[in-house]
Amino acid sequence: MSTGISIKPIAGSCGAEIAGVDLSMPLDDATFQTVQQAFLDHLVIFFRDQTLSPDQLKTFGRRFGELRVSDQYQPLDGHPEILEIVKEPDATDIVGNLWHCDESFMEKPALGSILYLIDCPEYGGDTMFANQYAAFESLSPGMQEMLSSMRAIYSDGSLQQRNKGRSLKVHPNAASRPSYEAVHPVVRTHVQTGRKSLFVHRPYTIRFEGMTVEESQPLLRFLYAHAARPEFTCRFRWDKGSVALWDNRCAQHYALNDYAGVRRYGHRVTIIGDKPK
Ligand SMILES: [Fe+2]
Repeated sequence: MSTGISIKPIAGSCGAEIAGVDLSMPLDDATFQTVQQAFLDHLVIFFRDQTLSPDQLKTFGRRFGELRVSDQYQPLDGHPEILEIVKEPDATDIVGNLWHCDESFMEKPALGSILYLIDCPEYGGDTMFANQYAAFESLSPGMQEMLSSMRAIYSDGSLQQRNKGRSLKVHPNAASRPSYEAVHPVVRTHVQTGRKSLFVHRPYTIRFEGMTVEESQPLLRFLYAHAARPEFTCRFRWDKGSVALWDNRCAQHYALNDYAGVRRYGHRVTIIGDKPK
């Protein structure tokens, strides 16, 4: 491990805070290897007291892979790879206040997402994360075997519907373009760790391949509840300058909408991943 860096888990199943890394500076290879290993070990890593320009955030994100240019939400002016995650003081709704992983409706879903908060409430607005390796590994052998041979259909149709009329900066073309749709294995194997994780998400998984929506729903409902068991989760309390990097391949997250009257604002980049196998 690089000297001066500490990695402190925040819960038993996922999440670790990393201290001693300034993300505004180019990371040398040893530091990057330490950060990447912590990311793979803990699924979501957090940094505090960072000051990042949009370019510095993108530079950090690009260490992990190519960044997505979203056609879902309006990007930051001059930075098509950066999403503005915002809730204004008078807003009541937010994006992401349900368990999900980012972009599982894409052919190549997100490897990871990085959120850097610039303004946040003194309390409230935490984000929860859930370890989907643990979700898979805690199922019975019979259920594991059955799910391992199944695939499912993922679509962002419900997200497009949900975003209509909301106080969010939705991309002007988002409502008129066709929904994204993809077919992925229900249990995916992480390309870097070799571990299997459960990969179904309430807003995006429409049905199992070869089954109707009605046939799929009972099992999907069980899996959604199972995937978010408290034992699999951690909860991060943000401050101004906090950064979180989460692995969408093996974790789900949930943004809590338990605050009002305060602006919460941040910049997010999304790293493009591989086709799930
Ligand atoms: Fe999200």
